[in-house]
Amino acid sequence: MTKYKLIATAAMGLEAIVADEVRKLGYECTVDNGKVIFEGDELAVARTNLWLRTADRIKIQLGEFKATTFDELFEKTKVLPWEQFITKDSEFPVSGKSIKSTLYSVPDCQAIVKKAIVERLKSQYRAVEWFQETGAKVPIEVAIRKDFVTLTIDTSGAGLHKRGYRVQQGAAPLKETLAAALIQLTNWTPDRPFVDLFCGSGTIPIEAALIGQNIAPGFNRDFLAEEWEIMPAGIWEKAREEAEDLANYDQSLQITGSDIQHSAVEMATQNAQEAGLAGVIQFKQMQATDFKTRDMYGVIVSNPPYGERISDRPGVEKLYQQLGQTLADLDTWSIYFITSHEEFEKHFGKKATKKRKLFNGFIRTDYYQYWGKRHPRED
Ligand SMILES: C[S@@+](CC[C@H](N)C(=O)[O-])C[C@H]1O[C@@H](n2cnc3c(N)ncnc32)[C@H](O)[C@@H]1O
Repeated sequence: MTKYKLIATAAMGLEAIVADEVRKLGYECTVDNGKVIFEGDELAVARTNLWLRTADRIKIQLGEFKATTFDELFEKTKVLPWEQFITKDSEFPVSGKSIKSTLYSVPDCQAIVKKAIVERLKSQYRAVEWFQETGAKVPIEVAIRKDFVTLTIDTSGAGLHKRGYRVQQGAAPLKETLAAALIQLTNWTPDRPFVDLFCGSGTIPIEAALIGQNIAPGFNRDFLAEEWEIMPAGIWEKAREEAEDLANYDQSLQITGSDIQHSAVEMATQNAQEAGLAGVIQFKQMQATDFKTRDMYGVIVSNPPYGERISDRPGVEKLYQQLGQTLADLDTWSIYFITSHEEFEKHFGKKATKKRKLFNGFIRTDYYQYWGKRHPRED
């Protein structure tokens, strides 16, 4: 097997969480803007695609160099061993981006890179004059930042947030990768109760259950690199077998998701079933402010309405205020809310132990963290 330079791309603000996950899989890594960089072979490509809960994609970096002219871009692209990934039939579209660089015309950069790769392949596959591109897809990206070119190949295909379980979605679903990050930022362990009071289509409880039973998030989907001839035989089977061995379906969990809307509860139930978690999570219709519990040391993670439209604000502020009262006595519980409402703490009636800036898509949000009393076991 060959060692490659691999990149796990990450949403802004989630890099450190992705890096933690990469390290837990056994790979040393470094963090840059929007990416986590590590070394690994083909098995690492399969394992990271299957296991990383918070990364967007896994890419192979084929080259990086400085280029300020099209000639330089062409020549430095042409010397790279593209034939390692692209066969005579592969489809190899080139996408691009350019930031603060002399070569700013993205369509031209894409065309030059494509031409350079074709030249390289022609010199390798001598009999081929014209590449039909009817085979497996090998998407290439040319990214230029301050005249520095990075050439990568995407191994994931659909973004890793697409786990394959979302058959239904509500109006403002949370990305699965962000939901997994929110949970990993808590102190939850599978033996403690877990609650989402605004579950919508069920993303947060479903991701919690996958984490709780150590189920690989990519287990129910395919990846682009599975179709590549260059992947050594049996690699994906090996990675899937490892995932099957590590899954702990017997771990009992106490996870509940509730929502004021019946339709949301139905959606969430269906999505959980699709994820293979039927019966693992309890979903019910409930007004969040009616929450009551005798359990201790639980964790609440919720994505409540934000009141982005001015007209929705008073209602949402009242809701936050009532929530503050409902949850006021749960001193052993740790409570986490993500919202873009800048005065959440004021309405909720309590200052957060810690706040963390996060992006929910393009919306700037804060993750308000209220730490409960430590579990005796943690002392
Ligand atoms: C931003 S969405 C949550 C989306 C969810 N995280 C997902 O991934 O699908 C907010 C949810 O809160 C629900 N909701 C609004 N007011 C509520 C209340 N007072 N009690 C319980 N749920 C409420 C809405 O029905 C909606 O499903």
